[in-house]
Amino acid sequence: MLRILNLETGYGRLRVLKGVSLHVSSGEIVTLIGANGAGKSTLLSCVAGVVRPWAGEVVLNGRPITGLPPEQVVASGCSLSPEGRQVFGPMTVRENLLMGGYVRRGERGREETEAALEEVYGLFEVLRQRRDQLAGTLSGGEQQMLAIGRALMARPRLVMMDEPSLGIAPRVVQMIYETLPELKRRGMTLLLVEQNARAALRVADRGYVLETGQIVCEGDSEELLGNREVQRAYLGKDYRRIDE
Ligand SMILES: Nc1ncnc2c1ncn2[C@@H]1O[C@H](COP(=O)(O)OP(=O)(O)OP(=O)(O)O)[C@@H](O)[C@H]1O
Ligand SMILES: [Mg+2]
Repeated sequence: MLRILNLETGYGRLRVLKGVSLHVSSGEIVTLIGANGAGKSTLLSCVAGVVRPWAGEVVLNGRPITGLPPEQVVASGCSLSPEGRQVFGPMTVRENLLMGGYVRRGERGREETEAALEEVYGLFEVLRQRRDQLAGTLSGGEQQMLAIGRALMARPRLVMMDEPSLGIAPRVVQMIYETLPELKRRGMTLLLVEQNARAALRVADRGYVLETGQIVCEGDSEELLGNREVQRAYLGKDYRRIDE
C-alpha cells in the first residue's frame, strides 16, 4: 500500500529525516513511535505533500507520489489527520467535514458526499449531534474526532493519524482507539504516529521506532511491547527490574 524508501527531508539547513524506509501493507495498522522531535510529524507531512522531500521515494499503491502537492496525495487515496487537529474553528462541524471531501468533490455527486458524511457520523455519533456547532467550541476530544472524520471524508484507503491521543482525556482516547479496528474492518489501512507507545502498540499489527530521523527498531507489536529498549525508552518501564 505505502512504501517509503530512503526518505530525507528537513527545514532550511536542518536535516530531520536521515534516510527513512518503511512500508505499510494493505489492511495493516502500523505505528510509528518516537520521542519529541524525532521527526514523526515531519515524516507524515512529507508523505502528505506538506513538506518537500530532499531525497528518497514515496510509493502509494504502486504509484510514485514523491513530492506531489497535498491535494494530489489526497486524490491518490491517502489522507492525514494532523497533529494538533487543526480544525477550522469558525466553521461548523459539518462544514469542516465537507472540506475534507472537497478534493474529491469533482468526481462525486451529492449523494456520495452525504454517504461519506453518514459514515463519519456512524463512527462518531457526537459529530452528528454537533454538526451545526462551530468547531472551535468543541472539546479537545471532539475536535480530534472531527479531524479524523475530516480525513475520512475523502474516502482514503490509507489514513495517517498524527498523535490522536495528544492532550485528550483517557476515556476519550480509549473511544478513539476503539474506532481504529473498525476502520480496518471498513477496509482502511492505518499509519499511526504516537508518543503514547503503549496505546499504539496495543492496537497496531506492527511498529517502527524513529530516533532522531532514523528507524532504529521495527517488529510486530507484541515483539516491540516485549522489547527491553522499547520498554525503557517508550513504555515507562525501568529495565532494571527486580525480577531480572
Ligand atoms: N516548520 C518547521 N520549521 C523548522 N523546524 C521544524 C519545523 N517543524 C519541525 N521542525 C523541527 O524538526 C524536528 C522534528 O520535528 P517533528 O515535529 O517532525 O517531530 P515529532 O517526532 O513529530 O515530535 P513530537 O512528538 O513533539 O510531535 C524538530 O527538531 C523540530 O524542531
Ligand atoms: Mg509530532
